Order: sequence, then structure tokens, then C-alpha cells
Amino acid sequence: MVILMKERISESGVIEDRELAEYYSLMAKRHMRIPCQRVLSRIEAKGIEKGKALDVGTGPGIFPIYLSKALPEIRFKAIDLSPVMVDIALKNAIEASVSDRIDFQVGSAYSLPCEDHSLDLLLCINTLHHLDRPIMFFNEVARVLREGGAFVIVDFHRDASFIWIGLFDLFWKIFFGRHPKARKGFIESVNSSYTLEECRAFLNQSKLTNGKLYTRTIEMWVESIPTQDRR
Ligand SMILES: C[S@@+](CC[C@H](N)C(=O)[O-])C[C@H]1O[C@@H](n2cnc3c(N)ncnc32)[C@H](O)[C@@H]1O
Repeated sequence: MVILMKERISESGVIEDRELAEYYSLMAKRHMRIPCQRVLSRIEAKGIEKGKALDVGTGPGIFPIYLSKALPEIRFKAIDLSPVMVDIALKNAIEASVSDRIDFQVGSAYSLPCEDHSLDLLLCINTLHHLDRPIMFFNEVARVLREGGAFVIVDFHRDASFIWIGLFDLFWKIFFGRHPKARKGFIESVNSSYTLEECRAFLNQSKLTNGKLYTRTIEMWVESIPTQDRR
């Protein structure tokens, strides 16, 4: 039996609806602790404790806020294309008393506001599916990371098992999707995400040469391989 993979349905664009953005922020503050811990454990596994980091597509800033508390010697910059999201992220950082340690800016994944080879760490969580030009983004990641710098990119992949997708959609509707505007959010994001094969092909065509790609249920993780492990 041949099962045809659904075509990607692009969800490019930014969340500029303030009501939706504030709802997303509220839900993320409530439910994103475990995802934050998982990203932290990957950063710790890479031995990164200090230096400069950038979070791309930061949304309400939940990841850099959590990580800047756990890793106080890392100086974070966090960007989002949506001015509304940046405004909310800044308010969240003030509320968490870390606004002096994170520089929030409006900025694009395709033109990262960093000098060449200046970063120790780059994060991009749940945002790749918004990017219609992933190779351009990967090339930017390669440009801004210093030699030995690390990256952690996490997103959905639309070739995940339909059982996982159905289960997570149910969780989404229970925990995140109560607001009518957010109800279809998870499925729309999955439909806009890349398959593993597509993502692998984009990586191969990009300048980001040291990526390891693997899956966890509905997630696709693309991480840098530490220098000593490269062949
Ligand atoms: C689903 S949210 C993820 C937010 C956050 N990383 C998280 O996991 O909580 C994706 C974010 O990416 C932003 N975004 C979309 N396209 C972008 C681009 N080209 N450059 C930077 N940010 C972008 C959106 O505005 C949105 O805030």
C-alpha cells in the first residue's frame, strides 16, 4: 500500500494579532516548562555554559527567559519578526526579572542581527515551519556561529505517524486550543512543517555542514555535532 505524503501548506507569516499572541504567551508560560528543560539538557550536553546565544522566532520569549535563569553566564539575544511578540516577550522578561540579560529585537531568520562567527549557541524552537526558505536560514546559522558553536533547532515534521499527530492535536485542543483562534493551530503548524527527507535535503544544500537530524514523536531535532565527534 502506498501512502502519499501530503503537500506542505505554508504557514509563513507572523503572529501579529495581539489577542492571539497574548493567549499564546499565557499558555506557553503555563505549559512549556518540560520543553524548556529538554532544550536545556541538550545545551548542557554540549558543554555550553557561557558566551553569546541567539533565539530565532522567540515568540513570547519563554525559552530564553528560562535558559537565562539556568545559564546565567550566557548572554541572550532573541528575535521575532512580529513586533507584538517582541513586546510581549519583553514584558515577560521584566516579570521574570531577567530583562537585563536578554536583548529582544524585531528581526528576521533570513538576516540574523549578528556578526559573522560571533555566536556560541543558536536556538530555533517551533519556528522552522514558518520559514519558506529554510536553506537561506541554515546559511545564516552557518554564518553567525563561531567555530565549534552549537545549534539546536526543534520543530514538527509532517511525516510523523498520524497516531502521534492525532494524540498531540488532542493535547493541543485541551491545553492550548481553547481559544477559537488557536484551535487549529497545531494541525496548521504540522501541515506547514517539513518532512525529515525535505529537511535533510535542505541541510545538504546549505552551508550548515555539521547537523545531526533525529526525531522524537512529532518532533524533528536538528543539532550540531560537537567538534570532537565529527568524522
Ligand atoms: C510558533 S511560534 C514559536 C515561539 C517560541 N519559539 C516557542 O516555541 O514558544 C513561531 C514564531 O516565529 C515567528 N516568525 C515567523 N517567521 C519568522 C521569521 N522569518 N523570522 C523570525 N521570526 C519569525 C512568529 O512571529 C512566531 O512568534
